[in-house]
Amino acid sequence: MTSMPSIPRRRCVMSLAGAAAVLAAPAWVKAQTPIVVKFSHVVAEKTPKGQGSLKFKELAEKKLAGKVQVQVFPSSQLFGDAKEMEALLLGDVHLIAPSLSKFDRYTKKVQLFDLPFLFDDIAAVDHFQSSAPGQDLLKSMTSRGLLGLAYWHNGMKQLSTNRDKLERPEDVKGLKFRIQASDVLEAQFRALGANPQKMAFAEVYQALQSGVVDGQENTWSNIYSQKFHEVQKTIAETNHGVIDYMVVTNAKWWDGLPADVRKGLSEAMAEATAYANKMAGDFNEDDKKKIEAAGKARVQKLTKADVAAWRKAMEPVWKKFEGDIGRDLIDAALKSNK
Ligand code: SIN
Repeated sequence: MTSMPSIPRRRCVMSLAGAAAVLAAPAWVKAQTPIVVKFSHVVAEKTPKGQGSLKFKELAEKKLAGKVQVQVFPSSQLFGDAKEMEALLLGDVHLIAPSLSKFDRYTKKVQLFDLPFLFDDIAAVDHFQSSAPGQDLLKSMTSRGLLGLAYWHNGMKQLSTNRDKLERPEDVKGLKFRIQASDVLEAQFRALGANPQKMAFAEVYQALQSGVVDGQENTWSNIYSQKFHEVQKTIAETNHGVIDYMVVTNAKWWDGLPADVRKGLSEAMAEATAYANKMAGDFNEDDKKKIEAAGKARVQKLTKADVAAWRKAMEPVWKKFEGDIGRDLIDAALKSNK
């Protein structure tokens, strides 16, 4: 049996002394070395979130020159959907921006955003997020160690399948759909008589291509950047829900930052948020046009009667989750539709 190499006693004493010096270092010494801020997300760089995170890096490093270094990891390179929250809580990453659909393990309130046909458009979503009840939700997970710093938009969801006909709810009966890890979305597809399957974002293209699932719901920007339109036949312009993000940090790590760094990062986040939200509108508009021009999947426009049929079919979902979410919050969100 080989024995462990022994550490020379002198080196051991010195490294213990070194460790003690680091632990005892005053805050200003720690603040002098650049603080590395790791920002991990699951989408491509040419998306609203991809561009927002890069803008945050640019602004934070400018405002806090020499004090912080921001490292951005797109496309699930560092952590995918399944692991990113855990990694944040363990301190392996400092910022993530999951879709609002992915928080239901931490709070039932944020499920609000998944209720089908709750918001008429992104302007209404924006209005609610800026309101007092919307802002309160950013702090609703602090007891679980997560602090929301901002909302970022992506856009309204569209429905796609590998079938030619996609106008009415009966067209999706019996089909398999990939969904995000959300019980509300699961109930939504069950209400349609379809079979939902929770799956990480990074696996969706492959699942659509191989026929593991028949369809999915997403924004124009995610559909285009992930090439879903190349492996789907029809995309119906349903606008039946929203994919937006909450930029979250580890509350303990955030509170432990030197005050000037926290201030600089907060300012960078506010500016990056305005930028990301502007990009979201632009991306979704352009990417829809690019999908239409590519001519691979057909974009199905819906009549008012079609939309009413989808709305009616998904209605039972509201009753099921009203208790968890709270009627007051639903009413506050509905007020934004003006
Ligand atoms: C994202 O936009 O972050 C991913 C959304 C999804 O999982 O469909």
